[in-house]
Amino acid sequence: MARTYGEIIQTSFEEVFAQTADRSAAVFVDIGSGKGLIAAAAVGQGGYARAVGVEKYRDKYEDSIKLHSSLPEDVQSKLEYILSDVADLDLRQLMQQWAQAEVMLFCNNLAFGQGMNARLGRSIREAMDSIPDVRTAVVASTPLEALNDRLKCLISLNMSWGTSHESSVYLWHGDHKE
Ligand SMILES: C[S@@+](CC[C@H](N)C(=O)[O-])C[C@H]1O[C@@H](n2cnc3c(N)ncnc32)[C@H](O)[C@@H]1O
Repeated sequence: MARTYGEIIQTSFEEVFAQTADRSAAVFVDIGSGKGLIAAAAVGQGGYARAVGVEKYRDKYEDSIKLHSSLPEDVQSKLEYILSDVADLDLRQLMQQWAQAEVMLFCNNLAFGQGMNARLGRSIREAMDSIPDVRTAVVASTPLEALNDRLKCLISLNMSWGTSHESSVYLWHGDHKE
């Protein structure tokens, strides 16, 4: 994968967070968390109960660890970064471990590549099906084909590489708690 780097812009964080019905009972998971900004903001500004970032590359992960240590203790205690390729994680097992009443899975996956996105979509689907009582939203900057039948809407997000980037919102078990 090319080591070019991009991020969601802070002005669009709230648009993502708004896809969760009750943040105080939700975990925010950032797949490909980069420098860790949106995961930190999910707890610090967004009011999520917990946030987890998963990042493949050590240099970005170390940036997120530096950010973590600069945050107030109450935010630190709810925030965790993991150095891993998401393909090497058992998302199903982790979701069962992380899940609160709600899950928000954010994937800024534009540069993940077709094969990786196909695999990611399948493993998210499997993970979500294993937590049937948990309302789950997935926001992806590139469509995840395996989730197509759960597409709720499209939203425009501002990214460091351009404004109004069309992103997909998928929803699981939404009817249970709405
Ligand atoms: C576009 S950046 C998004 C950063 C952050 N989530 C945001 O939106 O501001 C994508 C990140 O995903 C990471 N990444 C790419 N492939 C990955 C993989 N297979 N597993 C985990 N992280 C990955 C990249 O290193 C990069 O930091």
